[in-house]
Amino acid sequence: MTKSSHAEGPSARQEIESGIVFFRGRLMDIRDATVSIATHALNYGTGCFEGIRAYWNAEDGELYILKGHAHYERFLRSAKILKIQVPYTVSELMDWTRAVLAANAFRQDVYIRPLAFKGAAAIKVALSGMRDEVGILATPMGDYVATDGLKATVSNWVRIADNMIPSRAKVTGAYINAALASDDAAMDGYDEAIMLSEDGQVAEASSSNLFMVRDGTLVTSPVTADILEGVTRQAVFQLARDLGWPLVERPIDRTELYVADEVFLAGTGVQIAGVTEIDHRTIGSGKMGPITAKLQEVYFQAVRGRDARYREWLTPVYGKEGHE
Ligand SMILES: Cc1ncc(COP(=O)(O)O)c(C=O)c1O
Repeated sequence: MTKSSHAEGPSARQEIESGIVFFRGRLMDIRDATVSIATHALNYGTGCFEGIRAYWNAEDGELYILKGHAHYERFLRSAKILKIQVPYTVSELMDWTRAVLAANAFRQDVYIRPLAFKGAAAIKVALSGMRDEVGILATPMGDYVATDGLKATVSNWVRIADNMIPSRAKVTGAYINAALASDDAAMDGYDEAIMLSEDGQVAEASSSNLFMVRDGTLVTSPVTADILEGVTRQAVFQLARDLGWPLVERPIDRTELYVADEVFLAGTGVQIAGVTEIDHRTIGSGKMGPITAKLQEVYFQAVRGRDARYREWLTPVYGKEGHE
């Protein structure tokens, strides 16, 4: 694994002030892509979104969108749950995404943010009969968190339950829950927050899915544990299968994390990131474990188009259409 495999670019805190975006059915300058302060989604959080990465490969002179189709399939599922009409198919959304990236002439790692929301300038708290809007923006972005050893804490903010705000939908307003947890963790000197569900079992981290390794088996919480059904989580399943490693989906107790051999996070933003300390307990040897390191190595090769086995995960922006 080379350091250059990680995403490179500005921090996720950097404000996005320029660029070409997709909004209201066409490409436009981001400064023109504005909404009223009366917008329903701004007032009530009635939107859904995606986070997709595209990785630059300098040797190929190519920008690869990672698992774009899987992200847009989840985007449409989220929209369905929130009764948001998205008048585009997955492949049309991919075409617009490629158009946005090409219009910005990006030759670096970028983060793509599709957004669908209740755009009506109306007061009524409802989902049906509200005008919807769809946009896609993209911005250069590096690693979201360090990938080689995070200090995490189990948050006392409880992960939203599916029958409060649907967990498997990527709902804009639901990220208040994640922001409360991750902000408190950061203020207390941790890199990340791990969230438990109402029944006290491990759900996921604030913006990624969680895996642990116990006695050579990878373990992750099931999709019924109030998690977001992660695209990277599925990628880890495939990598583990290809590496011949056993993987089970089952509930995880809080204290299993403390005694696990390895813990890592998986998500578009965090990529694959080792956790080396939780609630002041050292995980494994206190360094990133061998299983996490191997997964990271294969993942970072795959996302930049350097491993033919995973070429189908990628859609090139400038060259021929991919397969994923
Ligand atoms: C709450 C939450 N869980 C899990 C994930 C991981 O999902 P994915 O791998 O699809 O990015 C994310 C987003 O990155 C998230 O925000």
